[in-house]
Amino acid sequence: MYHLFLHSQLDYRRDIMFTAVLVLMSVSGINGWTDTKVRRFRDNFLFGAATSAYQVEGGWDVDDKGENIWDRFLHEHPGVVADGRNGDVACDSYHKYQRDVEMLRELGVDHYRFSISWSRILPTGFSNEINEKGLEYYDNLIDELLKYDIKPMITLFHFDLPQTLQDLGGWANPLSVEWFEDYARVVFEKFGAKVKYWITINQPNSICVDGYGGIEFAPAVGSSGVGDYLCIKNVLLAHAKAYRLYEEEYKAKYKGSVGISLSVNWADSYDNKTENIESTDLYREFTIGLYMNPIWSKEGDFPAVVKKRVLQRSLEQGYRKSRLPEFSSDEIILLKGSADFLGANHYTTTLVKKAEKRFPSPSIDDDMGVELSQRSEWKTSQSSWLRSAPYGLYKMSIHINKVYDYPPVFITEHGWSTMRGLKDSSRVKILRDYFNALLFAIEDGTDVKGYTAWSLMDNIEWTAGSSERFGLYEVNFDSKEKTRKARLSALVYKRIIEERIVEENWKPDNLNISITKRKKYVKVEL
Ligand code: BGC
Repeated sequence: MYHLFLHSQLDYRRDIMFTAVLVLMSVSGINGWTDTKVRRFRDNFLFGAATSAYQVEGGWDVDDKGENIWDRFLHEHPGVVADGRNGDVACDSYHKYQRDVEMLRELGVDHYRFSISWSRILPTGFSNEINEKGLEYYDNLIDELLKYDIKPMITLFHFDLPQTLQDLGGWANPLSVEWFEDYARVVFEKFGAKVKYWITINQPNSICVDGYGGIEFAPAVGSSGVGDYLCIKNVLLAHAKAYRLYEEEYKAKYKGSVGISLSVNWADSYDNKTENIESTDLYREFTIGLYMNPIWSKEGDFPAVVKKRVLQRSLEQGYRKSRLPEFSSDEIILLKGSADFLGANHYTTTLVKKAEKRFPSPSIDDDMGVELSQRSEWKTSQSSWLRSAPYGLYKMSIHINKVYDYPPVFITEHGWSTMRGLKDSSRVKILRDYFNALLFAIEDGTDVKGYTAWSLMDNIEWTAGSSERFGLYEVNFDSKEKTRKARLSALVYKRIIEERIVEENWKPDNLNISITKRKKYVKVEL
């Protein structure tokens, strides 16, 4: 209660102040008022960079790796990739991981978030056959990181399900919960002693809404309003099982932390009309609440408004019960509190309006009944969905604090896409603006432990191939060596990590980057 009261005050103060600061950033000195306070990232705030297996590793069929759903999808439908480039070779990190670690040392980061390819270590998807060569690759990478005091943060699952398991229904099959738990056990057993930061699953909404609801993301099931909800339930349960497994069998021994990475972009009402404000609340429940509520709310379970809405639409459509599957009371208990931290993936903000048109039904779009847009004055990136609205990071943080009572947060992804080129001044601006927003959020009580830039280097941006570049380092995909070169943003990020403040006008003399001598790593409890 105290928090809530405090926050409504802070929210108000901050809304005004934040808007003023953003205005001042563009029209500095207006009315003679400037916020001159220098905000610092504390010494034990962790800075890192991220990638994922399919997007960087390549080596798609070497050393007995099994096929996964992205291998299959992009091999069978090469036409869906914007520039035809798939993950067969990608950045070739399977062979170039030492260069990747060298780049991390150049940046001077504390941690590296990467994912394990399930089918590389379990080619059948099941734990009956463990691929030692696959394990060796990750073991070498982890050792290389530890050698330079860079903490590995491992994501167990970042979109690339073994194809064998997809053939059995993938995440729509309730047995996927056990399959994932088995896989997690193999990984915890092998790497638990060396790795302290774990993320079970990356972005259930992309896996389920895009992959099972839609057809543009593997496995392209196209069952919106049904398959997406089945998947969400199973993915969340799989996460919880892996969390409990670690808690029961490894936590005391290894003292690590386990979280889940969720997409927590912000959504604001298009205008002040009551119907649009209500639609925005509903949209947030469908995009944030659906995933956070089962884990972080006091009562657990899917949000009541989402349950009510899907039930009502399902009955109207002639279904006997809701298309949104229920959690049993045991499952609600299993999920509640099943995360040591929220892995927050934040990229952008959208505006929400109550939909005037009807969507095909059943579908999650029809269940939500909203139309989305973005402000035309927000800076555009190379990705159609991504515009810059740094205040959204602040507002998302405050929202999560209010609704879920100040969960520990680790920003596990934030980034910006450009075209090719080393002088990425738009990324530099976005980094600075979002860091300023993050510093405000921290000042106002958000418990943020660290920040992870997406991405360490350009990689295979799913169906965008290499047409949208998210890297601090540019990758020359046409070169045999997959040469990586530091962009301007890499030097600016390095400087922020060193100085722990955001300097609006700092510029490097050139784009040369050398290994950073890091201060001793400070241990952070999550
Ligand atoms: C995903 C990444 C992706 C990034 C940029 C995130 O949602 O986890 O795999 O590359 O967005 O689109």
